[in-house]
Amino acid sequence: MAVMHVDAAKKNVQQAGFMDLEVDPRLDLFQEINRLKKEKNALILAHYYQEPDIQDVADYIGDSLGLAQQAEQTKADMIVFAGVHFMAETAKILNPSRKVVIPDLKAGCSLSDSCPPPLFKRFREAHPDHIVISYINCSAGIKELSDVICTSSNAKLIVDSFTKEQKIIFAPDKNLGSYINKVTGRNMLLWNGACMVHEIFSLEKIINLKIRHPKAKMIAHPECEDSVLRVADFIGSTTQLLHFTEKDPSKEFIVATETGILHQMMKNSPDKIFIPAPPDNACACNDCPHMKLNSLEKLYLCMEYELPEIHMEPSLREAARKPIERMLQISAKAGL
Ligand code: 13P
Ligand code: SF4
Repeated sequence: MAVMHVDAAKKNVQQAGFMDLEVDPRLDLFQEINRLKKEKNALILAHYYQEPDIQDVADYIGDSLGLAQQAEQTKADMIVFAGVHFMAETAKILNPSRKVVIPDLKAGCSLSDSCPPPLFKRFREAHPDHIVISYINCSAGIKELSDVICTSSNAKLIVDSFTKEQKIIFAPDKNLGSYINKVTGRNMLLWNGACMVHEIFSLEKIINLKIRHPKAKMIAHPECEDSVLRVADFIGSTTQLLHFTEKDPSKEFIVATETGILHQMMKNSPDKIFIPAPPDNACACNDCPHMKLNSLEKLYLCMEYELPEIHMEPSLREAARKPIERMLQISAKAGL
């Protein structure tokens, strides 16, 4: 038996997580997880920011857009979402008849937290002539207040689907919003939110790295601040950054996003060198503390006990679904 104290602890898992449960260290977790996948007809979806072991056992690894598309299309009985809460919630919204579980229910997102629905509702009401485009990194409560959702892969496409005259509120990421304003020549009204991981890069350290590695291309996620984006050779979502490193002939890259993506970059281009862009603290690389709450052990326990599960009020789920579906339709038309 792999897990001790099960009955007592199980009741608490939905709220408190698996902290009372221990995994037998002799277990081969890769084998166990693969067994559970088959037995339970489960699909493991993992974001690129997950730890390497989780990426290696996942059925699909992707960025927020790819993960939402996979979640919508799957026929699996259970979606195991190795990512953060808003991602698992989006999967439940798009495929409500499936059971959606997440290894750690406390895996949140600083960007999503920076935009509380009651405050945003007032902001929206103060600008009745604006429509709302929200970045997918937000709660269902914000999605419900939005006209259309976007991800970092399709933000420009979604914004461009509106006329230049249309007044737009963009929430919650001010950095992505300001980047999209720049590339589309718009003046969208921006909610003042940001991602703690992408805001902390040190421009000074990046410039020093560039001096030490003059042949390296600097690539950045659009959640980074403008000062960092200005020195980037390429800007894109995690999937777009990964594809860039595969196609570009350069042999060295300075990567300004969460370090989880380096696992796939190194796997797909073993002959190239990837240097994580350093944050403005004593660390050499930049991890998302929310994404990294998930572990292989928690993934195994979550599949074994099918907990913690994402539950949502049907009315909220339905309201939040409309703007996400609109995004998926616009993306599909454009072949994304
Ligand atoms: P993408 O998955 O769209 O690249 O966004 C990165 C991110 O911060 C997810 O939390
Ligand atoms: Fe949220 Fe930033 Fe972590 Fe992504 S990297 S989950 S945006 S805090």
